[in-house]
Amino acid sequence: MDKSLALDELRSKILADNVCPDLAHTATQLVMGDGNPDADIVFIGEAPGKSEDEQGKPFVGASGKFLNEMLASINLKREDVYITNIVKYRPPNNRDPSTEEKRAFWPYLMRQLEIIDPKVIVTLGRHAGGCFIPDIHISRDHGHARKVRLTRDGREYDWLVLPLYHPAAALYNGGMRQTLLDDFQKIKL
Ligand code: URA
Repeated sequence: MDKSLALDELRSKILADNVCPDLAHTATQLVMGDGNPDADIVFIGEAPGKSEDEQGKPFVGASGKFLNEMLASINLKREDVYITNIVKYRPPNNRDPSTEEKRAFWPYLMRQLEIIDPKVIVTLGRHAGGCFIPDIHISRDHGHARKVRLTRDGREYDWLVLPLYHPAAALYNGGMRQTLLDDFQKIKL
């Protein structure tokens, strides 16, 4: 099946299954993903913020601006990759998504990855990284790709996961900006 169509169906399923009804109630809309469903690289953030909630696309605010810059630094555009979040509704006041919320969206994220079937998954921040690498220490593990075996409906998937700091970290810390830019070089396939 066409990947865009499969992703549209997944979006409809999230709505029909009434995933995280409290978040759905306070958010403006479901933020599914953006970019190329045929991409080799998928970026996964934490949850939509205010701008993302308004525009219905992930990483379109200040963090997204830096993400675009980092993509450009390795000669990629948003259209070349696929970008999404673990949790697909904005948590109120941009609070961290809860463990329950991350768990509730997990099977849908797995299906999303199964559809896209990327060569590498780049997690942004410790929340997204921790979903794939439970014992993650982001200060130790950032920039080091590893194979991660995950199961969905009894099937096993081996993903190559590259955990990075969250671009928002660089907005408050200049040193972090260079660390992220350096780590981005490791994405080049
Ligand atoms: N931060 C995230 O983790 N995701 C977004 O989509 C925007 C900001």
